[in-house]
Amino acid sequence: GKGGYEHYMLKEINTQPNALTNTIEGRVQDGEVTLEDFPEGTFEDVDDVQFVACGTSYHAALYGQQLLNQTGIRAQAFRASEYVDSATGSITENTLVIAVTQSGETADTLGALRGAKERGARTVTVTNVMGSTAAREADDALFIRAGPEIGVAATKTFSSQAVMLSLLSLRLAEDIEAVSAPDDQAELLRELQKLPEYVQTVLDSTAAKRIASRYTGSEAFFFIGRGLNNAVAKEGALKFKEITYEHAEGFASGELKHGPLALVTPDTPVFALFNGDKDRKTLQNAEEAQARGAPIVSVAHADHPAEKISDDFLEIPNTHSMWSGLLANVQLQLVSYYAAKNLGRPIDKPRNLAKSVTVE
Ligand code: F6R
Repeated sequence: GKGGYEHYMLKEINTQPNALTNTIEGRVQDGEVTLEDFPEGTFEDVDDVQFVACGTSYHAALYGQQLLNQTGIRAQAFRASEYVDSATGSITENTLVIAVTQSGETADTLGALRGAKERGARTVTVTNVMGSTAAREADDALFIRAGPEIGVAATKTFSSQAVMLSLLSLRLAEDIEAVSAPDDQAELLRELQKLPEYVQTVLDSTAAKRIASRYTGSEAFFFIGRGLNNAVAKEGALKFKEITYEHAEGFASGELKHGPLALVTPDTPVFALFNGDKDRKTLQNAEEAQARGAPIVSVAHADHPAEKISDDFLEIPNTHSMWSGLLANVQLQLVSYYAAKNLGRPIDKPRNLAKSVTVE
């Protein structure tokens, strides 16, 4: 049942601390990542990583791509629907293909997984459903253990996927000789253990609900972020359009001035995401939008320089840049939820959408 919540989506947003605890459980020990079925050294031959996924899972894959590239491992996230026709030619025997799929049943993603196998790639799926087709067909499966997700809009499974891919990227860095684990791995893993608490802090705040009410009825909604927060900006926009039916777009911050800025007006709030990484540039991009009259809603930790220039502020706990985007994402989930509720939308079953898309 909905456990006292008005919608499954709200329940699922609120149970993220628990979902994340389950995702992490037993996988971090003494400053190291341990993954079941993957003994030390199992990834030592990996040269490059290709992610295949759709929708929200694709945004989690973008997060993974960014982390791997930062570590020095070649990685690319592909839209599963594009992969077989345009990308399998780049597979080598040392390519690891990671299919990210909550349901494990998405036809586009299964098609990409099969295409990768045919080309001889090693395959892993990151999924929420044991016994799913992806789990059966991939060489190995990593379960995110987020618990069943009923709402059509993916929420807790995105958070759990992003964390699972972060752990996997740290394991790859440990196994692959040519790259080294991040200098601050012990610290970022300590912060990961606190992530469920930090998410709870976000859930306990009321700013998202107030901001959703303030801007419901705007002409369009834009989300900007760079690096890991580029993935979060795109996910924030997808969630927003799915359940509110309003026009929303997510951009890499720096891209705004290369075209989308033409859409920015006083009636298009811009949500700017900050995570301590190249924030000065994102701040400047937010100010470019503000100069065209757009209200700026910043998502950042307290006392961040963005607070001074912002029209509204969504606070997140101050944590490692690897995780802060996931806290920003929870704020954006809440904004989408309350905006959809203000508009009277059928939040758990948006029009034209299905929980699991089993046609290509
Ligand atoms: C968005 C959403 C969809 C799915 C996509 C992939 O909220 O739910 O975009 O993320 O259809 O689904 P899975 O992860 O089951 O492969």
